Amino acid sequence: MTDDTMDATAELIARLDAAETEAGAVRLRHHSYELLHLSPGASLVDVGCGTGRAVAELHQRGMAAFGVDPDELMITTARRRWPAADFRVASAESLPLPDQAVSGYRADKVLHELPDPAAALAEAHRVLTPAGRIVLVGQDWDALMIDSSHADLTRAILRT
Ligand SMILES: C[S@@+](CC[C@H](N)C(=O)[O-])C[C@H]1O[C@@H](n2cnc3c(N)ncnc32)[C@H](O)[C@@H]1O
Repeated sequence: MTDDTMDATAELIARLDAAETEAGAVRLRHHSYELLHLSPGASLVDVGCGTGRAVAELHQRGMAAFGVDPDELMITTARRRWPAADFRVASAESLPLPDQAVSGYRADKVLHELPDPAAALAEAHRVLTPAGRIVLVGQDWDALMIDSSHADLTRAILRT
């Protein structure tokens, strides 16, 4: 991993940390858990898990949850923060799982960033049981709204 890559990951971690405890983000994350419709003990993979909060929360709910992310710094950080949970270095396009291995698949703010999301979906289909559920979360950046009296600054932020 180069210094530039590590800096970019550290910056992304700081941004994710700032956002993930916001009330709306907490509500959305917990809603995604409900949509998985899983019972305690069920197996699931959180793909592009970042620093692993969702994996830890699902683990605390009794799921056999594990997280994968191709970024080694993300996985090192996840393991340090949540030592009881299970994390592996892997990408959405090549999951370290046999066919039909998990009942749940979750990816939050990941698929829209992939160059070939169809390949990730095919891989999700491969690892899910026939009755398994997939929950994908992501922002609609074109629907972003900022309520501010600083019009110029608001436009600059939206265009950026
Ligand atoms: C915006 S972050 C979201 C992290 C986490 N899901 C969250 O909600 O905090 C996107 C994550 O996707 C990961 N990622 C990038 N390419 C990936 C790929 N091909 N397969 C799986 N994850 C990938 C990144 O390393 C990063 O951790």
